[in-house]
Amino acid sequence: MTDLDVLDKPRTETTNRGDTQELEFAAVTSDGAERGEGLLANPLRAGLHLDRVPAPCVMVIFGVTGDLTGRKLMPALYDLAVGHPLPEGFSIVGVSHRDWSDDDFRDQMREAVAKNARTPVTDESWDHFARGLFYVRGDFKAPETYQCLNERLNGIDRERRAGGNRLFYLATSPDYYGPIIEQLGASGVAQRQDIYADPSESWHRVVVEKPFGHDLPSARALIAEMAAVFSERQIYRIDHYLGKETVQNVLAFRFANVLFEPIWNRQFVDHVQITAAEGLGVEGRAGYYEGAGALRDMVQSHMLQLLTVVAMEPPAFFNGNAVRDEKVKVLRSVVVPRGDEVARRTVRGQYQSGFSGGRPVGAYREEKGVAPDSCTDTYVALKLECENWRWAGVPFYLRTGKRLPRRVTEIAIEFKPVPHLMFQSLADLGDVDLAPNVLTLRIQPDEGISLRFAAKVPGATTHLRTVRMDFLYGNSFGQAGPDAYERLLLDAMLGDPTLFARRDEVEAAWALMQPILDGWAEGQPPQPYEAGTWGPEAADRLLERDGRAWRRP
Ligand code: BG6
Repeated sequence: MTDLDVLDKPRTETTNRGDTQELEFAAVTSDGAERGEGLLANPLRAGLHLDRVPAPCVMVIFGVTGDLTGRKLMPALYDLAVGHPLPEGFSIVGVSHRDWSDDDFRDQMREAVAKNARTPVTDESWDHFARGLFYVRGDFKAPETYQCLNERLNGIDRERRAGGNRLFYLATSPDYYGPIIEQLGASGVAQRQDIYADPSESWHRVVVEKPFGHDLPSARALIAEMAAVFSERQIYRIDHYLGKETVQNVLAFRFANVLFEPIWNRQFVDHVQITAAEGLGVEGRAGYYEGAGALRDMVQSHMLQLLTVVAMEPPAFFNGNAVRDEKVKVLRSVVVPRGDEVARRTVRGQYQSGFSGGRPVGAYREEKGVAPDSCTDTYVALKLECENWRWAGVPFYLRTGKRLPRRVTEIAIEFKPVPHLMFQSLADLGDVDLAPNVLTLRIQPDEGISLRFAAKVPGATTHLRTVRMDFLYGNSFGQAGPDAYERLLLDAMLGDPTLFARRDEVEAAWALMQPILDGWAEGQPPQPYEAGTWGPEAADRLLERDGRAWRRP
């Protein structure tokens, strides 16, 4: 029986509405009470979401000396520990090859946290947090590392009452994912747990960073390697875009309001544009980026996630299976460009020298670690279509790139023109300046939602103009939301997989990308674009052919 077969037989519990709701499995919190995690995960259930306190656990971070730990993980854990009730016994064990002691590890992490956390570091709060930090030196492939780790973990369980719960985090280069998983299983440090854990037993989970595979075959191979040691419900494939408040707000906007869903379809929507632009270049990550490129780095993961939250059908519940089932259906409905279609529907670009933030910057091929004849894409534009009842005929244009004019991520829904413009005679006289309605969901920065619509210009004449109605997070809530990693790490500790990619989702995303990668490999070199511009001209032509144009966000 596969894990997904098991997922088909969820345990259910009667909700306070009198119906039944799926519980993926149960957890025991620090006070020993059993909680249904599917229910805990549902923010619409009053009361329960205030109580998101995980059971004590030890988080084991492999690759703890790397950039991700210092920039994202440790600051997020510190912010969580300070701002959210993490249990007393919560501890972190860093594993890496560097010759550090526990104290070296604590010192390094303090520096990183002081630089990158939202919450200021004080001696008192740091000392409390640092008491739970430990370091194990070792080679990821060597069995002795895992013996050492096991002893350390057992000691921490005894001293800090972590209860045997483990959250393994793979923050290493993807080359180590396979060996670490294998060793975790072979050493018995990690145990396979079936779908309905006995709540009195401790839990073991593993969080995997992207890139989850390099293409469809390698993603499948990694899925199989992980499935040999962990059951699907123990695996949390992280995509930090899903942890962004504004991405989750797309779901709230769509499914907690009655106004928008009736027009969220092919009858009213002309097309959708999804943009993830960055002003930065590769910033010293050439070692990884050269082998990845923008399609693998941004489109396969983050941008397809944005596409799914915009295009999915309303799930019945906000829980792991209901939400992810709908996302997978969207991915499977996307028409995959093949053969000649790849060149017509996709644009690859690579930045040349130019200007960024007012200063001159070099070309991608001049970056340290980049081959002088590199054909890696730093820009991608795509035209995708979902072949389903809701979206047939509505193009989704996606673009992402480095060294574009500025950092902005947004989803713009452009609606069709009105069926009959009674102001046509004024339009002929040039008195109407009308553009179709556009709803823009701004993911970052200036997080918010804006609606473009027509209004009458005040005065004795009937003159119309397009205006904007804006909702800004900052104005309405007056506080910045938590970092995406805070939300996702907490969810992983609580055992809530809703905002993590399931294996069929990962596979469907790669299945979409593979024909494009194959098409490019047959000879579609990246088009040059000047740093600080909106990408290659070919990207403009992609939309011009359809009588449309990219927005200038
Ligand atoms: C990462 C990519 O996953 O996402 C980076 O590897 C990219 O290349 C980053 O810069 C963008 O994330 P954000 O949160 O800054 O939009």
